[in-house]
Amino acid sequence: MRVAIGSDHGGFFLKKIVVALVAELGHEVDDVGCVNGESVDYPQFAEQVCEKVRSQNADRGILICGTGIGMSMAANKHASIRAALCSEQYTARMSREHNDANVLCLGERVTGPGVAEDVVRTWLATPFEGGRHQRRIELFSTL
Ligand code: RB5
Repeated sequence: MRVAIGSDHGGFFLKKIVVALVAELGHEVDDVGCVNGESVDYPQFAEQVCEKVRSQNADRGILICGTGIGMSMAANKHASIRAALCSEQYTARMSREHNDANVLCLGERVTGPGVAEDVVRTWLATPFEGGRHQRRIELFSTL
């Protein structure tokens, strides 16, 4: 898969770990930044990753900030983006099986690197179940 990955300064160190993991798992990584720990505005990185997913230049996106909250709020403003903030494996799995999440959000200050790696592995590997869940997702566009 092509995976676009972005963070702000609050997620910069976890992004480095996630970028390495996703590449090691055999995926194509598109790292949109940020490039160091200097203060930046997370909506700009959410925008870049979401645009790549929306335009099908990426199959999935991963966004990381301090808590994951700002990134998930910003990402879910974009049509056809279903961003899930996950801090453990169960919600990572369910966000794929039931919600077909196309963007994963992580909080570097919340989720340690070992758990974050498990979350990413699970989220990338889990397929969408479809069926009744597809119908529910389609209702989003009527909201
Ligand atoms: C930056 O300090 C922090 O606000 C940001 O990384 C994120 O946690 C926002 O939701």
